[in-house]
Amino acid sequence: HTLDIDPNAASKGTYEFYMLKEIDEQPAVMRRLSQDYFDGDDVKVDPAIVDAMAQSDRIYILAAGTSYHAGLVGKNIIEEYADIPVEVGLASEFGYHFPKLSKKPFFIFLSQSGETADSRVVLKQVNERNLPSLTMTNVEGSTLSREATYTMLLEAGPEIAVASTKAYTAQIAVQAILAKAVGEKKNLEKAKNFDLKNQFALAAEGMQELVDGKEKIDELAKKYLSTTRNAFYLGRGVDYAVALEGALKLKEVSYIETEGFAAAELKHGTIALIEKGTPVITLINDPATADLTRGNIQEVESRGANVMTFVAKDFAREGDDVVLPQIDYYLSPLVTAIPAQLIAYYASKNKGLDVDKPRNLAKSVTVE
Ligand code: G6P
Repeated sequence: HTLDIDPNAASKGTYEFYMLKEIDEQPAVMRRLSQDYFDGDDVKVDPAIVDAMAQSDRIYILAAGTSYHAGLVGKNIIEEYADIPVEVGLASEFGYHFPKLSKKPFFIFLSQSGETADSRVVLKQVNERNLPSLTMTNVEGSTLSREATYTMLLEAGPEIAVASTKAYTAQIAVQAILAKAVGEKKNLEKAKNFDLKNQFALAAEGMQELVDGKEKIDELAKKYLSTTRNAFYLGRGVDYAVALEGALKLKEVSYIETEGFAAAELKHGTIALIEKGTPVITLINDPATADLTRGNIQEVESRGANVMTFVAKDFAREGDDVVLPQIDYYLSPLVTAIPAQLIAYYASKNKGLDVDKPRNLAKSVTVE
């Protein structure tokens, strides 16, 4: 039941929309990355990139849209396994208000297309300052790739749907590869013990299980998202980063106004918007906060919210809507992303919208 991707094939095949095809391809992308970025169980990354990054005292990740959300996940992974502080910035903001940089900065540009103008503005200034940079992109030879010092390819195959799916998970995976390589270079025990190859296998398997169970997500979309005007996404830790991406995905393709929140933050104001029937999708993968997030669920449920829970196996309880296959907490966004993408897809499709081409949006935005 697995699907392989032909890098040249940008055809929809039997799919009604590219978005679903691209969601389904994610296990295959993980397997491809496992092949191409590993030598046996060891990660294989251009040593020049690893050296440059290992010497830096702070990483600056710049991106836009979904790629920015992948950067928020990457920050957690890089700080954990490469032990370097990371700042994540929206390229459009950073470009005109550079923060005070550290002494030895290293820049990572995340861009599916490699053409986003907002990111190019930052890279231009990074180059003027002669600072080292790496572009992680899905498009070989793209502008951001040519203009950066280094490139790592996402190898996700062509992504046609405007809403990014497989490039997002590939960006998370490639950041993890880099984090492990740099951590090993720095001789960190945590990095050396991080069994990334095995985690990728678990992620691919878990993704497959979740895409195979897509009807369940369609039912949730039908039950809770068919008439609502608004929705919320809650999570803590890396789940907060995924909540932001899940909210973007849902709003951009279904036009349901959706906000992602750090689960505990809702009560500091926005909980005022929870009414009877407000859909609230809650993500739970973080061991440090799983119980606290359950408390936040009670807060919104007692105000009438329809809560949907996507929960890692270790923390799952009776009645949870989607049980996520258990993988390393820092990599959990690789699996959490699947139901988040699927629910957006079905919410849009069930409304009869053009899932692949949401109004007013472009796949690649080459203007500021
Ligand atoms: C556009 C797309 C988004 C994408 C963003 C960044 O706004 O509609 O889906 O996340 O650009 O694109 P990039 O190619 O730089 O990742």
